[in-house]
Amino acid sequence: MNAAQKKKGRILTGHRPTGPRHIGHLVGTLEQWAKMQEDYECFFLIADLHVLTTDYEHPDRIQQNIADVVIDWLASGIDAEKATLVRQSALMEHAQLALLFGMLTTVARLERVPTYKDQIQNLGLNPSAGLLNYPVLQSADILIYKANLVPVGEDQLPHIELTREIARKFNTLSGETFPEPEGLLTKTARLPGTDNRTMHSSWGNAIRLYESEEETKKKVMSMYTDPKRLRATDPGTVEGNPVFEYHDVFNPNKDEVEDFKARYREGKVGDVEVKKRLTEVLNAYLASIRERRAKLSKNPKDAIRILDEGTEAARPLVEATMDEVLEKMGLK
Ligand code: TRP
Repeated sequence: MNAAQKKKGRILTGHRPTGPRHIGHLVGTLEQWAKMQEDYECFFLIADLHVLTTDYEHPDRIQQNIADVVIDWLASGIDAEKATLVRQSALMEHAQLALLFGMLTTVARLERVPTYKDQIQNLGLNPSAGLLNYPVLQSADILIYKANLVPVGEDQLPHIELTREIARKFNTLSGETFPEPEGLLTKTARLPGTDNRTMHSSWGNAIRLYESEEETKKKVMSMYTDPKRLRATDPGTVEGNPVFEYHDVFNPNKDEVEDFKARYREGKVGDVEVKKRLTEVLNAYLASIRERRAKLSKNPKDAIRILDEGTEAARPLVEATMDEVLEKMGLK
């Protein structure tokens, strides 16, 4: 099916290349993207400029991280024949449009964005102008493709709201130019880390797509469970227990999961048994992805070539939008 036949509309979404992907990315976004590329015209963005809004002190890591993310995407079923992969920093129109959108956006509006407020609070960060402008750059990413749909996690919805405001403002000033894109949430709830905090690669609580079965086993066997349960014969709590949240997502045998839950509540099954089974289930779920990943990572240059080809394929589209914007803003 070529792009024009994908009548359901155009999608733009992306990841910041912060390193190898984990199972949270897989069930939170990548599986959904892989399905959507069948029916929608999809652009998947490697948002490398966005990385620099907080982490500009490690330029040596960026290219490796980009290769890792692209390889994980491909291993998870993103298909360069069906979707277009784009490197943000290689199409300067992203940054150029963000600069122009910055003219239409007040500082006060950006200071109210929840991700920004959280970041400066939690990280005790002294924010750069680049960080304040993060969601403006994201709006440019989306609108330069005139995308209709943006599949994202819940934390990103305020950024989509800003994108819609910018689109409206631009359209009011300069005539109908941009569609107002809709955010689209995944059906699966966000997976907690193995310690029940937010899953974060740098916190050691994430199961990465590339890791070995043995590493996965170690992480699962030491997973957080019901802290009030001291013995296998104590009645346990299933709700909010990450071991059971993982079973719900990864175990295809729903009867087995229900049986585990019932016995856990009654104090008739030990954590070890439930975790052993979870290890098997997770490793089975990840086996084919890991196999593809191992193959792809033998030639990381191939993954980079796929990214660069996608970027060139996207170039005429972003140039056309930019031309239109420059004209409408009186710069031609
Ligand atoms: N901010 C997104 C995240 O951290 C990444 C991103 C950058 C993005 N540009 C985008 C997502 C455009 C959707 C659309 O997850």
